[in-house]
Amino acid sequence: MDKRELIEKINKLKKEKNAIILAHCYQNIEIDYVADFVGDSLGLSQLAAKTNADKIIFAGVYFMAETAKILNPAKKVYLPNISGCDMADMINLEQIKKFKEKNPNIPTVCYINSTAAVKSECDICCTSSNAIEVVKSLNTNEVLFVPDRYLAGWVEKNLPNVKITAYQGYCPTHFKISAEDIINKKNENPNAIVLSHPECRDEVVEISDFVGSTTQMMKYCKESKNKEFIVATELGVVQRLQRDYPDKKIIPISKEIFCPSMKENTLEDILYTLENENNEIKVDENIAKKAINCIDRMLKI
Ligand code: 13P
Ligand code: SF4
Repeated sequence: MDKRELIEKINKLKKEKNAIILAHCYQNIEIDYVADFVGDSLGLSQLAAKTNADKIIFAGVYFMAETAKILNPAKKVYLPNISGCDMADMINLEQIKKFKEKNPNIPTVCYINSTAAVKSECDICCTSSNAIEVVKSLNTNEVLFVPDRYLAGWVEKNLPNVKITAYQGYCPTHFKISAEDIINKKNENPNAIVLSHPECRDEVVEISDFVGSTTQMMKYCKESKNKEFIVATELGVVQRLQRDYPDKKIIPISKEIFCPSMKENTLEDILYTLENENNEIKVDENIAKKAINCIDRMLKI
């Protein structure tokens, strides 16, 4: 089947089945042809919370589909490929419990890139686009933050009156980007603005002109009068910016900065899932009941 045929078939079938396809902007770019929404983790969870569709096909990684299922217990949620987020998998239920025991009576914030079991033990959830607001909303001078130590560091830098004790997780994809990479690109492109994701190491964030979620970086690029941007995040964002703003020079750090888990879904997999309804995501009821409070509290902000 050629690509056009594949796209037509998916778009027809998703209407027939009243299904919605939600895609993260690190997905293979061809998935945009069939997606109803492409965005960052916050946008995706907001959409998942209000969709009228009966079925949600999540073109993303496991925690995203799990979050959609927690928000829609009566709906069917599918992940075309069961692929996890390496950062989310750095902490499990036992480890979050131990972390809290070691640091008792402190509000716990978890990055949405975490499992439902971990969320069930936390007070509030956040994404890269609202982490500062979420921590601020707690009106406290101390929080525990899991699992991303770099996002925690970025929040602490922005809220110097809050002491953050961070779990030592990180994103292996963003970890590959160094300050030296940025400086080298900047030397080659002195007029370029540096955009980076808060999952990047401190040394990268410190020398960036703008730090934000994937969607926030894309919005910044759209609205800026500048013509050149060094983009310190996953390749999917770089490719979408190059596609959407052909008059701007979008400079990737390297073609090696891609998330292998995010790249697993293909159009063929999406069609297969629509046809066969495989890989339905289930969340333990007790875990889901506790985890929803943590997600809902964030969505209310
Ligand atoms: P955002 O799209 O929320 O910025 O998150 C990036 C990410 O790594 C998702 O796993
Ligand atoms: Fe997880 Fe990093 Fe991949 Fe995002 S880019 S899904 S944080 S491993």
